[in-house]
Amino acid sequence: MKIVALSGSTRVGSYNTALLSAMSKLSPVSMQVSLLDSLKSIPIFDPDLTEDLIPQIVNRYISKIREADGLLISCPEYAYGVTGVLKNFLDWLVATDSIVLKPVIVATVSTSGLGGVRSFCSLVNTLAAMNSNVVIEGSLCIPYAKNKFDETLALVDDITIQGVTVSLRALARTITHGR
Ligand SMILES: Cc1cc2nc3c(=O)[nH]c(=O)nc-3n(C[C@H](O)[C@H](O)[C@H](O)COP(=O)(O)O)c2cc1C
Repeated sequence: MKIVALSGSTRVGSYNTALLSAMSKLSPVSMQVSLLDSLKSIPIFDPDLTEDLIPQIVNRYISKIREADGLLISCPEYAYGVTGVLKNFLDWLVATDSIVLKPVIVATVSTSGLGGVRSFCSLVNTLAAMNSNVVIEGSLCIPYAKNKFDETLALVDDITIQGVTVSLRALARTITHGR
């Protein structure tokens, strides 16, 4: 199974990117997880651009999403919502069929006690509008990130590790059985 991971944070030392890295390490051998980094290199979505003028990097990323069997998306909460860098990329995808019915695990990691749940709700809403297949039982809202990752950004919290394992299992099941 080809899995593409997207982080909504471009921050060096990002907990959300660290979660995706932990998910990659904990994934079964049947999954190949690749992180689509450099979302900050994606130009601002422009609805006036005709298809022949869509930037190369955008087309390349859209192809990777289209080829994937499933997605992992982890995003911080910025002002109660999804980060601009992730929303911008999702806006590019809206005009394509690349994410339609695609199984997606949604995660938020936050240094605060609410785990980024407001960003989570907003992201699920956006992905529902895009007709993707959000795997709700595999969702993760991880609070108090500083207690869950060590100084090397390795995921060290046992309960969160168990949650990640359940999440990956739910993704694999949805890819295989469609639910
Ligand atoms: C511009 C900005 C806005 C933020 N807004 C919120 C917020 O509304 N709610 C919240 O819980 N945390 C907020 N935070 C904190 C981040 O969500 C938190 O630090 C998170 O761990 C950052 O994710 P990262 O480690 O993957 O970069 C904000 C941080 C920044 C930089």
